[in-house]
Amino acid sequence: MAVIGTLDQDDSPSADRPVGFAELHLHLEGTLEPETIYALAARHHIPLPWRDLADLRARYEFADLASFLELYYANMTVLRTSDDFDTMTWLYLQRAHRAGVRHAEVFLDPQAHTIRGLAAADVLRGVAAALARAEGELDMSGGIIICILRDRPVAEALSTLDECLATDVAILGLGLDSAEVGFPPSLFREVFDVAGQAGLRRVAHAGEEGPPEYVWQALDLLGVERVDHGIRSLEDPALVSRLVADRIPLTVCPLSNVRLKAVSRLEEHPLRQMMAAGLLVTVNSDDPAYFGGYLDDNLAACRTSLGVTPAEVGQLAQNSVEASFATPERKRQLHSLLA
Ligand code: HPA
Ligand code: ZN
Repeated sequence: MAVIGTLDQDDSPSADRPVGFAELHLHLEGTLEPETIYALAARHHIPLPWRDLADLRARYEFADLASFLELYYANMTVLRTSDDFDTMTWLYLQRAHRAGVRHAEVFLDPQAHTIRGLAAADVLRGVAAALARAEGELDMSGGIIICILRDRPVAEALSTLDECLATDVAILGLGLDSAEVGFPPSLFREVFDVAGQAGLRRVAHAGEEGPPEYVWQALDLLGVERVDHGIRSLEDPALVSRLVADRIPLTVCPLSNVRLKAVSRLEEHPLRQMMAAGLLVTVNSDDPAYFGGYLDDNLAACRTSLGVTPAEVGQLAQNSVEASFATPERKRQLHSLLA
């Protein structure tokens, strides 16, 4: 595999980097740093529309989810070969390892690549190669959660899922992402039924920009075991009771919520309110190249701006392991790493 760049090298242990975390809400395509985009474009002789790196970097300012998604989908077109997906995933896994992550259930948008002519098998094999390397070299476990783009047709979602299931790559789960409002989970019932029958774990983005009703639908119609974001659940006390009673994890992404203006400032983020309500909350980085940082950066920002204590960081780490789809044996190992 060709070597492209490295990310921040600081690996000193701190209260923001307990070793043994599980990262459960991470879009691999959202880890493409501007430097990596330039390196991949050079690898494939793809002209980029930006004047230079600084010009691209200056565009990482967003008004909402839609404005982020526009740049996110444009930038990922530099990914052309299996090796590119390997490179991207390996760079993320090394950086996550430095943040204390030892288990990563990574989101991937195969549909965003198959609709521009790539084979799902090539995409998935590249990601799987990096995950296998991380297991061998970094003692990291994990898996691939393929996400359906909810603002595209259901028939396309079904064929993408079929194509992915027909490859030789093991798939851990099915997720649902992209533009939320106007695209309720109910549209994707059949897709999630097929995934359930195929033995995939099920998760969905809900309650990021969309209403609590979308979280109810994700639970009751799609059969999800975990809700991604879910911050708007707090608007519905009956929903909070349900999430608490069933111990449904919420994969919260504080810096993402600020950068996409789901909350106006980090000081106003409901993370601590969610913990106080008894919800099984985890902290994750979502699209770290776009939103100001990786898992450790999210934890550090929560400590500074929300007053999250080292003990609470420890609790969030334990929650992440509990909320993961790791095997019972791996969960025990991760819990003992954290102890
Ligand atoms: N929300 C929805 N879809 C996404 C996101 C997100 O934060 N990141 C990548 N796809
Ligand atoms: Zn997300």
